[in-house]
Amino acid sequence: MNPLIIAIWLMLPAYLPNNFAVLLGGGRPLDFGRCFPDGRRILGNGKTFRGTIAGALAGVGVGLILDSIASSRPDLGLPDFGAGAELIMVLVGLSLGAMAGDIIASFFKRRMGMERGASLFLVDQLDFVAGSWVLTLLLAPRWFLENFTGEIILIVLIVTPILHRATNIIGYKIKAKREPW
Ligand code: CTP
Ligand code: MG
Repeated sequence: MNPLIIAIWLMLPAYLPNNFAVLLGGGRPLDFGRCFPDGRRILGNGKTFRGTIAGALAGVGVGLILDSIASSRPDLGLPDFGAGAELIMVLVGLSLGAMAGDIIASFFKRRMGMERGASLFLVDQLDFVAGSWVLTLLLAPRWFLENFTGEIILIVLIVTPILHRATNIIGYKIKAKREPW
């Protein structure tokens, strides 16, 4: 199978949580509206309980479907997401890690004095990639190192900002997102 397709396939459980958070987010913010000692919000209204939980669950759910496709159709040459307990570790790592990376980035954006929704080039595009890789490496190191080869990592780093920008423009056009980034 084409390595570009494999890279996107492996990252889908990390990509989709963001989109589901945008579609289903809202309500009580993760920081309960509280401020940091610097007087600014800890995370801001853009990080909510509903968005985070819906996003992480969607990533795991989609991952289970992708894994069953890869396992039942080995002729397609698509990688699976691990077996048994490892499967859950991998999918939690990819999806919750993606949400966590985005949340940590918002914490630093607020510390830099940036309002909710302000854009921070490359951080906005790759924070969730870093989060998903770190958590998956911690929870399922064998699977991560076997699947994320140097080539796949390079492809993800190049392709993700393009896909991220394209989906956010669509999200903005269909009025699901407040900014086109
Ligand atoms: N969202 C959410 N919970 C999350 C992540 C995102 O509810 N953990 C929803 C929010 O409605 C948010 C939207 O998805 O406004 C877009 O996400 P994002 O661009 O990450 O947030 P921003 O509003 O741009 O805020 P920030 O500046 O903190 O990135
Ligand atoms: Mg944003």
